[in-house]
Amino acid sequence: MDTHGRIVDYLRISVTDRCNERCTYCMPEGYKGWEQKADHLTADEIIRVVRAATGLGFRKFRLTGGEPLVRRDLLEIVHAIHALPGVDVIGLSTNATRLAPLAASLKSAGLRTVNVSIDSLDAALYRRITGGDVATVLAGIEAALAAGFERIKLNCVLMRGVNETSLWPLVQYAAERDLPLRLIELMPLTKADVFGSATFLSVEDAMRSLGEYDELIPQPDARIGWGPAKYYRMPKTGALVGFIGAMTTEHFCETCNKMRLTADGKVRPCLGDGHELDLRETLRLNQSDEAVREVLREALRIKPLEHQFRTNYAPCRPMTAIGG
Ligand code: 5AD
Ligand code: SF4
Repeated sequence: MDTHGRIVDYLRISVTDRCNERCTYCMPEGYKGWEQKADHLTADEIIRVVRAATGLGFRKFRLTGGEPLVRRDLLEIVHAIHALPGVDVIGLSTNATRLAPLAASLKSAGLRTVNVSIDSLDAALYRRITGGDVATVLAGIEAALAAGFERIKLNCVLMRGVNETSLWPLVQYAAERDLPLRLIELMPLTKADVFGSATFLSVEDAMRSLGEYDELIPQPDARIGWGPAKYYRMPKTGALVGFIGAMTTEHFCETCNKMRLTADGKVRPCLGDGHELDLRETLRLNQSDEAVREVLREALRIKPLEHQFRTNYAPCRPMTAIGG
């Protein structure tokens, strides 16, 4: 429990700040902040953090990046986390460009859920947003479906004038495969001001624009996984669409259940607040789980009531270096 009475049982672990794509909202242009290999936590250190965290009641773990699948020892990490007592679920957030050849092995290693980022189905637009090839992503999604994960979700960042016309095709694509689609408001993680930016599209406006194609029926009881989305059913296609209005929803943080660990070993109690606590030094100087738990407890103690995105948040490190 944190000091605001929220049960925090979910740790998102970034395994690398590197990525094989270049999404503008996640990585500033010309980003050179790559850390040295030695700055990254080792697989062993990551596993020690998970083991210690289970002792504080953490049950759900998600591997993120950067792009987690660029890390060579990811399968070993998944396997080792899966074997730890107290771990309920391991998930992965990925751009899916490298998922096709890895999906089956990830499933056997114990991975349960996969979130795939896909902002458009249109090849040219997808390339413009990410620098990558959407065909590899689609192949990754098919491989994940074939591997039989418990849950696969699609994530799309809303950008006015960029991918607004991609939303309805994405809804149809998701519905055909029975995958929940989540539409996420742009957060100021590379540039300070998103409200002032021409590309900011609120969930309200996205709902209005999707409403031209089909009704949106609220699903107040739908809780798909453990994220903050509000879900709606679109009856024509049967699609389940979740909206994550991190910027415009009041009380968005009231049910926050998570903390983050960056690839260089900082505990970040809130995505939208610059405070971080160093865990890497502790891991390298002290072998005890209790020392790790002490840092996690302090992080829970300082976890803020809400994010600073609307007020005085400065993007001290880009999303790729925090972890999605
Ligand atoms: N605003 C909103 N969502 C973002 N993501 C990355 N950067 C941003 C941002 N600035 C999303 C990715 C991915 C998830 C982990 O975070 O699209 O789906
Ligand atoms: Fe939780 Fe911070 Fe996200 Fe709010 S901004 S939901 S407190 S991680």
